[in-house]
Formats: sequence, C-alpha cells, structure tokens
Amino acid sequence: MAQKIQSVKGMNDLLPVEQKDFKLTAAFWQAFEDVVVRWTRAYGYQQIRTPIVEQTGLFVRSIGEETDVVGKEMYTFSDSNDSLSLSLRPEGTASCLRAVVEHDLLYNSPQKLWYMGPMFRRERPQKGRYRQFHQVGIEALGFEGPDIDAEIIAMSENLWKRLGIRKYLTLEINSLGNREERAAHRRALVEYLTRYEDKLDEDSKRRLKTNPLRVLDSKNPDLQEICNAAPHLTDYLGKESYKHYSRFKAMLEGLGIRYVENPRLVRGLDYYNQTVFEWTTDKLGAQATVCGGGRYDGLIEELGGKPAPSIGFAMGIERLLLLVSEYGSLKANAAPDVYAVCQGEGADLQMMKYARTLRANYFKVMQYFGDQSMKAKMKKADNSGARFVLIVAQDELANGTVTLKDMNGAHGQQTVAADDLISTLKKWKKAK
Ligand code: HAM
Repeated sequence: MAQKIQSVKGMNDLLPVEQKDFKLTAAFWQAFEDVVVRWTRAYGYQQIRTPIVEQTGLFVRSIGEETDVVGKEMYTFSDSNDSLSLSLRPEGTASCLRAVVEHDLLYNSPQKLWYMGPMFRRERPQKGRYRQFHQVGIEALGFEGPDIDAEIIAMSENLWKRLGIRKYLTLEINSLGNREERAAHRRALVEYLTRYEDKLDEDSKRRLKTNPLRVLDSKNPDLQEICNAAPHLTDYLGKESYKHYSRFKAMLEGLGIRYVENPRLVRGLDYYNQTVFEWTTDKLGAQATVCGGGRYDGLIEELGGKPAPSIGFAMGIERLLLLVSEYGSLKANAAPDVYAVCQGEGADLQMMKYARTLRANYFKVMQYFGDQSMKAKMKKADNSGARFVLIVAQDELANGTVTLKDMNGAHGQQTVAADDLISTLKKWKKAK
C-alpha cells in the first residue's frame, strides 16, 4: 500500500465528526458562522474578503519588523516569476486596510467592515494554538472614539452572550497613549529594565533592545515581579489621551460592562495606540486570549491612505469554539427534519418524489439509499437525529398514503393520505 500523506503540523481538517485531538466539527463551525453573520449585521458591519497571500512588505510595514509575528512566524516565499516576496497573512487587519486604501473605500464616509478566514503563524502548536487558525475580525475605520471604542466592546460582549459564554470571559483594558507618550514611557522603561538586565531571560534581553514594551508581555514566572513594578504607560498619558481613556472607561461603566485595567497589556503587534483590550478566559490553559484588539489611528496613513483614526478586534475561532463547545449554548444543527425510508419495488422512485416536495417546502430531508432490513433502516433514521421519519412501503404505495413517525413521541406513528404529507408535518413541527 502506498504511504499515506499527513496534513501539515499545526493545521487541522474540519470534519463532519469529532477527532481525538480536535473536537470541533464542521457543523458546529457553521452554526457559529450563522451567528456571526446575524451579529455583524445587527451592528451595521459589511463583509470584506481579501486574498490570503499579500506582499510581505505590507505586514512588515503595519505589524512591525521586530514583532514575533513578522520576525519569526510568517510563511514567506518568493513568487517564482519575479523576486517579489509574498507571505501568507498572519492576521486580517493589514490586508483589510490595504484593500480599503487600494479601493479608496473611505473617500466619503467611514466604514465598518468584518472578515472571517484562515490566518497563518508558524508558532509551536498546542491546544488552542495552531499554524493555520481562523479569525473573525471587525474594523471600524474613520471613527475617533471613544464612543466607538465602547461600542465595539459592547459588540464583542453581545457575541459572548449570544454564544452563552459571557461569564467565562474577562475584559482587560489598557491605554497605550500616543506616539510621544509611548516614547517617553519607553525611555523610562528601558532605564528601569536595564537596571535588571542581568536578571532578564534571553528573550527579554533581546526585546529590551528591539521592542522593550513587549518585555511586559513576558510569561516567565521569574520576571513577573520586575514587570509588575515597571513604569506604567497610563502614568505617561497626556491630557487628550487621558480624557479619551477616562471617557471610554466611563462608557463601559455606563453600559454595565465590567473590566480589569491591566497596565501590562501591550498587544503583540506594533500598530496600536490609545485603547487596547483583550478578552481572556481561565478555561483554556495557556492560550487564554480569545479576542484582542485596539485603536490604530496612524496605520491607514502609514499604508498610503488619508489619515483615518480606527479601531478593531479579532477573535480566534478555534479558541472561542473550544470554549463554546464545552461551556456555551451553541448547538450544531446538522440533523435533517425528515429521514425518509422505503421498502419494496417502486417505493424508491415515489420516495424521491415525496422528498422533492418536502424540500420545496423547506424541509431538510435525508433519504436512505441501500438495501438493508426495515429494522436496520429505522436504526439509521434514529441515529440521524431527524425529528420525523417518512416511511413508504408496499401498503402505502398501493393506498396512496404515507406513514409518518414523530421521533419526539408527541404524535406517535400515523398513516395519512399522501396529499396531507406536507400539511401534517407542518402541523406537527409547529406543535413541537
Ligand atoms: P492577535 O491578538 O494577534 O490580534 O490575534 C487575535 C486572536 O487570534 C487572538 O486573541 C487569538 O484568539 C487568535 N490567535 C492568534 N494566534 C493564534 C494561533 N496561533 N492559533 C490560534 N488562535 C490564534 C490580531 O490579529 C489583530 N489583527 C486584531 C485586531 C483587529 N486589532 C485591530 N483590529
């Protein structure tokens, strides 16, 4: 037998059934997508779909060369026909803004956009962390805030409620101020961390030189004391930034949204300023961040557009759905309404005609194909999860009737005239 070819490490197949080490099914995922479509519509967001491959320069310029994502984790290759460097997108914001600038979408009004799809980061795979993972993201472009900052938090909270996981998530917020304020904080931070340089691990020593703010992100238990006592960015906020942050917090309080201020929340991508936030959970082990985002007021201009203050967030679908599948209320709905079985000569064609009529009336129908005993067929019907079974055997065929079985038991099993098939099932469905 030829050797089997395996999928790429850290990249999952999404199947109709659960896998040993990956519990999510395609039906569950699809149920989530349905929720997302309604949820984004409720807040006035329109979908954007961009390619998964972009010029590498887009990510270098937006996310930042010194970040782990760009420096270590991108899948980068050169197009064989020219020397252009291309990368699989590691996130959605950069591509979304590239498209907005390229097509001049902001020419006369702000934009509220959402996207969903695969992202690629060459990280060490573990539960909740993959090399191909999926995000749902939203970007509100051309809004100064802080009202929109509060609205997008409320919007994310609304999704957690729709999925039944609100109580498992904590909102952490911080403000990164503006460029000058960050520069002043950076000077103080570098001075402070340099005093402890001999105690820092290799990663933090490197970050101290390249991106000192990210040292505060360190998960190394030995560094927690040093990081906790480091200068806080919020102490360096000027009047305007302070006002923005205070109004944002007051709005959250007004909306009844609890939050925790985390002065060490800095985010892993370089484009952020002012408001940043993450939704975290203690139910997923090390991969605690389900959703993250913040303002990136200068990014559109940096990508060649006219200045447009903006904010957005993205959630990791795998992480979120791992949480939802265990604790939430979302149910996959792959089961048919009607499972159709037939027995005997001529019954198969008649059954196909009934199935066609049922589908024309918006019933989801699964028809049995094969040649087993009636008992085996009924077992299949039971396993399908269908609410109703439609049976057509020789008697039904001869008398122009159909037999219907309500698997919930409410209506039992009844034989009715074939002409009454649709009306009976509609009545039964309505009665629950
Ligand atoms: P991010 O924090 O890099 O932000 O990613 C957002 C979310 O994607 C994370 O909170 C996490 O749930 C999920 N995620 C990231 N990496 C992985 C991975 N390797 N495996 C599984 N899930 C992962 C961004 O990407 C920004 N573009 C968010 C944003 C939008 N900011 C403003 N607008």
